[in-house]
Amino acid sequence: MKKALITGISGQDGSYLAEFLLKKNYQVHGIIRRVALEDETHRLWRLRKIKKDLNLHSGSLESFPSLAKIINQVQPDEIYHLAAQSYVSNSFEDEFSTLNTNINGTHFMLASTKEFAPQSKFYFAGSSEMFGKTVETPQNETTKFYPRSAYGISKVTGFELTRNYREAYNTFATTGILFNHESPRRGFEFVTRKISLAVARIKNNLQKEISLGNIKAKRDWGHAKDYVEAMWLMLQQQKPLDYVIGTGEQHTVEEFLSIAFQHVGLNFKDYLKIDKNLFRPAEVETLLADPINSKKKLGWKPKIKFEELVVEMVESDLRNVKDKTY
Ligand code: GDD
Repeated sequence: MKKALITGISGQDGSYLAEFLLKKNYQVHGIIRRVALEDETHRLWRLRKIKKDLNLHSGSLESFPSLAKIINQVQPDEIYHLAAQSYVSNSFEDEFSTLNTNINGTHFMLASTKEFAPQSKFYFAGSSEMFGKTVETPQNETTKFYPRSAYGISKVTGFELTRNYREAYNTFATTGILFNHESPRRGFEFVTRKISLAVARIKNNLQKEISLGNIKAKRDWGHAKDYVEAMWLMLQQQKPLDYVIGTGEQHTVEEFLSIAFQHVGLNFKDYLKIDKNLFRPAEVETLLADPINSKKKLGWKPKIKFEELVVEMVESDLRNVKDKTY
């Protein structure tokens, strides 16, 4: 039986990946902060259905010894390093802890892998935020990076560390450069979930309006469930290579809004308030993947289309509001 170790297992991607690997008959281990283990209801809701099948270890990205100990003990075949401070806006408010946690966390994971489980295959969660102020459209594996936030910079550094471990120490280490991927399990701070929950609450007279920043921003949005399969496929290849993972289709925040409100028979223009404070000091205006390599070499293709994703998120939040989950 293969063993996988996931950091960030309680997040959106971690929970889908854990489900995917359990179905493939992996023994699945996860690293969780102690505070989260002590507050299961709020912090581990995404793992509720599968928690009994998981091996959870208490550890922190800020502590090299805690990570080294777990990697040494588990001896995983595959490591998926997904944990990070992943909210771009927050990285402007707290650059220092974003850089510290994200860069050191990745470095600690790579160093522990090299030292204690050198046979492990290593996946690093890169991000299309690395392309930032894009120098070409669409973006592929050779597009130059131009990060626009401490978050983007931390991911570029993680990417370089991962590449260097691959080249210097022969670690099977790869980076997935994932474009935005969403689902009903998305955190509330991200724009898609903010919209889907607001639509459900407005429809039920619990909220009157929604405040947003730059609704002209363009993103390549896919479904997280599809994207975790790409992570796994990357570690099943002969050679460790970096891949751009996206749909190759672009939409504005405004389009997301429009479809979400339309789905419940409302017009977003009647409820939208633009708030200057929600604009970012340096914005990433447009992201679009050129996923040709992932299609050709991994045989990966996203299954869930944009409209389906929007509707699934709104439907899920309508249920949440009805059941008073939120
Ligand atoms: N969060 C948020 N809240 N974003 C808003 C809002 C708002 O009220 N109003 C407009 N936006 C715009 C942002 O300015 C941005 O251009 C776009 O909506 C998407 O923002 P987010 O959903 O916060 O995601 P992101 O694109 O910044 O980052 C996500 O995708 C990356 C991959 O490209 C995160 O998941 C990152 O962790 C991930 O790496």
